Amino acid sequence: MSRALDPSLRRQLADRIRFYRELGIYEFYRRPVDSRGADNTARDPSLDEEEASSMISPTIPRARAADPEDDLFSAPKPEAGVSDPARALAIIREDLGACTRCRLHKQGRQQIVFGVGNPKADLMFVGEAPGADEDEQGEPFVGRAGQLLNNMIKAMGIRREDVYIANIIKCRPPGNRVPERDECETCSPFLLRQIAAIQPKVIVALGAVAAKTLLAINAPMAELRGRWYDFRGIKLAVTYHPAFLLRDPRQKKEAWKDLQRVMQELGLTVGAAR
Ligand code: URA
Repeated sequence: MSRALDPSLRRQLADRIRFYRELGIYEFYRRPVDSRGADNTARDPSLDEEEASSMISPTIPRARAADPEDDLFSAPKPEAGVSDPARALAIIREDLGACTRCRLHKQGRQQIVFGVGNPKADLMFVGEAPGADEDEQGEPFVGRAGQLLNNMIKAMGIRREDVYIANIIKCRPPGNRVPERDECETCSPFLLRQIAAIQPKVIVALGAVAAKTLLAINAPMAELRGRWYDFRGIKLAVTYHPAFLLRDPRQKKEAWKDLQRVMQELGLTVGAAR
């Protein structure tokens, strides 16, 4: 049986969850519990397992009668229940607003680069972050790496406008530096919502930052490539980032092997380019 949560702890939790919702973060995950049943976060030791779980995981069914603050744990996203992916994406974009949730908004970004393509795409590419060209034009992958990505898409027998393209983070990091972990954590919930709205059949993570952020795995590219992952019920493959392929074109044949596996999964045949 669950015991009632201490009212002051409940209030603190409610405040914290409200704070995260204002940041646009709606997903909460349980941290692993060690073999003795002890959570590695500091929490009230008097809480039983069910109570502790329900504090941080909105996905665990809640059996208790409605308490106004309980709703905070299962906060619906603004696009929930919207079946048209284009409309859902528009709602997510509106929720993102003129984002100031991380430091990148004051480090020279010209505009937010939300994502582009077919809201009903079967295939979605996820890159790292906008570069200078993307920051200027407001669209992902429009620079040199984008040209190569376009060629890769064409080689698969499809068009850029058939797929959806987005990045882990939506603002250009200064000097194109690698995004910081907290920037990825702050921004990626919006990408997750875009993925949930589009529901592609396959996601291709371009490069290590995309792969590691989506999969929460810290492994070298050599280990990440060459297998399928289950990303919330969607098949996910990892391949090299086009910018890396520009620097080391010998790896293009490896990337092509990755894309061929994706084509097979989607029933695409080489030479079918329209
Ligand atoms: N590199 C990325 O990862 N994304 C872009 O949009 C452009 C370059």
